[in-house]
Amino acid sequence: VNRLLQDLAPHSSKRISEYAQSHSGVLDLTVGLPSFGPPRAFGDALSALARPLRASALPYDRYAHSRGAPELRDAIASVYASEQGVDLDPATTLLITNGAAGALWTGLLAVTEPGDEIMISDPCYMIYPPMIELLGRRPVRVPTDQTDGFALRPSRIQEALTQRSRVVLVNSPGNPTGAVHDEADLATLCDFAEKHGLFVMQDEVLDRYCFRGRHRSVVAVDRHGVGIAVNSLSKRFGMAGWRIGWLAGASQVVEQAAKAHTHFLLAVNHAVQLAAATALSDAGVDAEVSRHANELHDRGLRFLSALREVPGLSVPSRLDGGFYAFVGVRDFALLHHLVPDDGQTTGEAVAEHMLHKRGVAVVPGSAFGNAGADYVRMSFAGDPQQLDDAVCKLQSN
Ligand SMILES: Cc1ncc(COP(=O)(O)O)c(C=O)c1O
Repeated sequence: VNRLLQDLAPHSSKRISEYAQSHSGVLDLTVGLPSFGPPRAFGDALSALARPLRASALPYDRYAHSRGAPELRDAIASVYASEQGVDLDPATTLLITNGAAGALWTGLLAVTEPGDEIMISDPCYMIYPPMIELLGRRPVRVPTDQTDGFALRPSRIQEALTQRSRVVLVNSPGNPTGAVHDEADLATLCDFAEKHGLFVMQDEVLDRYCFRGRHRSVVAVDRHGVGIAVNSLSKRFGMAGWRIGWLAGASQVVEQAAKAHTHFLLAVNHAVQLAAATALSDAGVDAEVSRHANELHDRGLRFLSALREVPGLSVPSRLDGGFYAFVGVRDFALLHHLVPDDGQTTGEAVAEHMLHKRGVAVVPGSAFGNAGADYVRMSFAGDPQQLDDAVCKLQSN
């Protein structure tokens, strides 16, 4: 069997969240899915599509168009026009994929060759490094600073630059840190990328959870044709299980990504694409999504301020984006005499303690890179009552 795959360990967060799900008393703060479900318009559209089967085949019994159902590409282009003020040609610059994860690998495959280097921040979303390695490319970690909001900066990228560098992968708003790259940050990254022959791929799945200024997409900011956006309905609509995502970028890039997508997967679930198109075009949905995002922002602010009352936790002073708290735990470990085992990080020792002694499941920061060694990630996207209970359990001695 494939040695690369054999050597790949499962994510530590998967082990912890599986434990939490199979132990009913555990409060699960590992989950990155908003507690509200998809908009009603999505469910209504899907029910209409699933009306009793007829004798004859329905249009969505067929494969969808290999680039995605035209209805969905049109709806996504309209969203970018109204939210970002950018015109995306639905015929050539959009590819529908199985979630943002599908857009990440097809997009990366399209713009790199085996052995090329893809620059990612330390810390970053946990699937980037194994995905890049499995594609036969090299993930290169670029350090970030907590004092700078964990932003990915050209000066640090410059230090990691080699002949094989091809892509800067930026996640804004970011998981796990909440880092937000504003219009000026993205424009600077694109200028830098153009100068050095790189692409800037932005994972913007958390776009509707930007709490510092207005979310900007690299495809709206880029003036050089180097910007590629990866997005999905997973977080925007709280419907990760339905697997609708997309890649947006220059037509030459999307054309190659579409080939890879066709050869591996043929197409994405047709009926779900049509229901997603209806939901995205529904007049009431934008307001519903904004209401949910505002609710999550309030919930996050309350959660952060409650966490500040827990001795030993270093809680971020502001909430720029996303729905995670990336919390420093070095003092918490000292206070509770938690000594990491050999090879274990402080964050891992604290996550074990929180799980087994407090009944609170969190993700050790090491899952996101070495820079996360002294952190844990707590999601505040779930049930608000559960968050209150978790804080009480963490406060108790
Ligand atoms: C930053 C980030 N990118 C991508 C994904 C995957 O998104 P999708 O479910 O659309 O594949 C996630 C899921 O948690 C994420 O947090």
